Amino acid sequence: MENIIREYKKSETGIHILIFETKKSLYSQAMTSLFKSLSSREYTNVGLATGKTYERFYDILSNYSIKNKFSFSKISSFNLDEYVGIPNDDTCSYHYFMRNHLFSKIDLKESFIPDGNSEDLKKSAMAYEHQIASHGGIDIQYLGLGINGHIGFNEPGTPFDSRTHIAELAESTIRENSVYFDGNQVPKKAITMGIGTILDAKRIVLIATGESKSKIVKQTLDGSIEEKIPATALRLHQDATLLLDRDAGSLII
Ligand code: F6R
Repeated sequence: MENIIREYKKSETGIHILIFETKKSLYSQAMTSLFKSLSSREYTNVGLATGKTYERFYDILSNYSIKNKFSFSKISSFNLDEYVGIPNDDTCSYHYFMRNHLFSKIDLKESFIPDGNSEDLKKSAMAYEHQIASHGGIDIQYLGLGINGHIGFNEPGTPFDSRTHIAELAESTIRENSVYFDGNQVPKKAITMGIGTILDAKRIVLIATGESKSKIVKQTLDGSIEEKIPATALRLHQDATLLLDRDAGSLII
């Protein structure tokens, strides 16, 4: 494989770690491997994330599929999370993010995102679990990584067996995400797949880039497995892969 600085499997877990020289080679490997599995029909249900990490991934993915006339018409997607109380057409919503970066450019069969505007949020969280289960579960779940170790909006302290639920955002997450809100208040709550929901996916791929993620990447892999660092739950999964660029992997090279 091209441009890999280090590749290893963490011995006591199923985690496979790949550190790439550049972001470009990381995203190109992520895309090639996804298209291979989609073409062989290995995946039909794909779990998606939002955030800075995924902007570039979705751009590359949609450009490649347009150029190669790749059809997603048999693929269903399930997003991890959405803010509570932000209208779907608001530019800060994850509905908008997904439409803007991906859904308007490819022909997915259907796409699901948790409903953060329901009058009964608990009911819509349960409905989301049902939607995933009735489709046969998620084949591959993509994740980003918060600097406090959150996955989805599962903040430190979230039980590893949690299902889709309403989460309070951590202060650090609100600060990190405020750049997208242009001076407006960041919501304090979100609806998110739980850690248990994420761990049910057959395969998990977490992408982290940039120096700001290096410390939490190290803690995720080398610290003890505990709810204080939600991403350590990935070490309990049989088939999880971490794709890192040199900066994010700098403390474990
Ligand atoms: C987004 C999500 C979050 C982000 C994480 C990293 O759907 O679930 O866990 O993946 O906050 O965000 P970025 O990529 O903006 O650094």
